[in-house]
Amino acid sequence: MSNHDSTPKFPDSFLGNNSLDYDSSIWMERNQKKTTLLCLQYLYDERLDNLEKPDFLKDEPFFIVDLGCGTGFSTEILVERGFRVVGIDVLHDMLSKVKTKKNHMNNQNNLELILADINYIPLRSSSINHAISISAYNFITHRAESIRNKTNIAHNTAKYLYILLKPNGRIVIEFYPKDEKELNSFISSFKDNGFDGFMVKKDPNQKSGQTFLLLKKR
Ligand SMILES: C[S@@+](CC[C@H](N)C(=O)[O-])C[C@H]1O[C@@H](n2cnc3c(N)ncnc32)[C@H](O)[C@@H]1O
Repeated sequence: MSNHDSTPKFPDSFLGNNSLDYDSSIWMERNQKKTTLLCLQYLYDERLDNLEKPDFLKDEPFFIVDLGCGTGFSTEILVERGFRVVGIDVLHDMLSKVKTKKNHMNNQNNLELILADINYIPLRSSSINHAISISAYNFITHRAESIRNKTNIAHNTAKYLYILLKPNGRIVIEFYPKDEKELNSFISSFKDNGFDGFMVKKDPNQKSGQTFLLLKKR
């Protein structure tokens, strides 16, 4: 067996019994669900251009990937709204909570859960309409030791997301960048790999506060 532990180091609050505390925090649930609803609005933001909201009764199934779905606060909202959802998370402790919730969902056939890294999502090319990511995307470079390595991971992930998305595909990412360098690195990873879009900051004066990237496939 290899000594190399490929699991990134995450905040303790995602691991073991702490993931139960994360999942049972009413504050966290309220906050993450509110953010998910805002991300859904941003997905169809007119400033990206006029893309009609899907009519789930008429249109083909609409696939949305929840990148870093955690214990499923964002996933639950997406399923309730009628999307076909693929929840991706790299930590079993977090993903197992969504699996339990799935058993109680009305539309449980509309949800697939995959234990995987955002950097290597095991889905077919051009198979998804949209992706969202709530408070998770900044962890994609968690394991990188050098700035160069971080930049490469960000670029490869954006390139891969581009391939997975169907034409007109969109991504909304909500995250808390560590600093301006990290923010700029994520922005250019998308710009250089086929995306247009813009950024919304909850507090424009704060460099590292809550940030939304609204992206569409060029
Ligand atoms: C703060 S939680 C947010 C979970 C969920 N989106 C929510 O709103 O409650 C961040 C999640 O991202 C997951 N995550 C971090 N890096 C990841 C990666 N590279 N691939 C997949 N999941 C990742 C963590 O395991 C954790 O469950």
